[in-house]
Amino acid sequence: MSHIRTTGSPTTGRRRRGVRVLSLGALAAISLLAGCRQDMQDQPKFIPQRGTAFFPDGRSVRPQVLNTVARGQLHEDQYFYTGLVNGKEQDALPFPATLAVLERGQERYNVYCTPCHSRVGNGEGMIVERGYKPAGNYHDAKRLAQPLSHFFYVMTNGYGAMPDYSAQLTPADRWAVAAYIRALQLSQNAKESDVPQGVQVKNLSDIAEQQGLPASFAGPWPIAQSTYVMAKPANEGTPANAPAQNQNPPASKNHAPVNPSTPDGGAKQ
Ligand code: HEC
Repeated sequence: MSHIRTTGSPTTGRRRRGVRVLSLGALAAISLLAGCRQDMQDQPKFIPQRGTAFFPDGRSVRPQVLNTVARGQLHEDQYFYTGLVNGKEQDALPFPATLAVLERGQERYNVYCTPCHSRVGNGEGMIVERGYKPAGNYHDAKRLAQPLSHFFYVMTNGYGAMPDYSAQLTPADRWAVAAYIRALQLSQNAKESDVPQGVQVKNLSDIAEQQGLPASFAGPWPIAQSTYVMAKPANEGTPANAPAQNQNPPASKNHAPVNPSTPDGGAKQ
């Protein structure tokens, strides 16, 4: 680059040489860095089921080592994980029922179960009022007699029209909810022998009246007729108590459609 020297002043020439040295350095640095560059879409990882040349057998997913169990996956306590002993439900909590366990159960129950079972557990939650199949009433004779692990089992595996909650609730949380259901049952079906001496068992209707509410406040409440459509109608697809005018959203596969061609919309009343 001799022309720089002839056309420019000595100072400029020196500066330009400086620039040139700098840019050469930058170039070297960039090319070095480019060699280390790793794009995010091209990470050094194995995609599931993809082969590799790294292992002699060509599999990137390694077979399990025989006679070993991954940490935390032993599930040795069969009752804790299944709610069954020799295939049978049991009436026992696999850990002590402390106040903390019941409070956790109450909180989880109120999140996941109340939409259908309601806060008091009578099976008439908001989703049921809007047409879902009536969920079980925990206070009827059948559910009062069920062993504790039945509730755990239902949450783990689902039951009829009820989906399972094993993805939303850990096994420990499912047991906590089961324990809380027992507390709910006791709250409405307690006997004098269940409470410490000197403590009185009161009727819910009496408590309601004392608080200025009608005695029926604590009793079962009717499901609103205007929105109630049976999920599985008893007789050939016509809900017995469907409203005269169909105010429901379009029928899904779980909801039998109200027949608009009949003069009363299929209503039997
Ligand atoms: C989407 C509505 C829905 C939710 C949410 C729901 N359930 Fe249910 N549940 C039902 C229905 C419907 C039934 C009745 C099922 C049937 O008879 O086909 C039922 C039945 C039950 C039964 C009675 C089983 C029997 O032996 O009769 C138990 C116990 C139960 N549910 C527990 C729970 C618990 C605990 C939760 C919360 C983790 C929960 N359910 C959340 C709808 C629901």
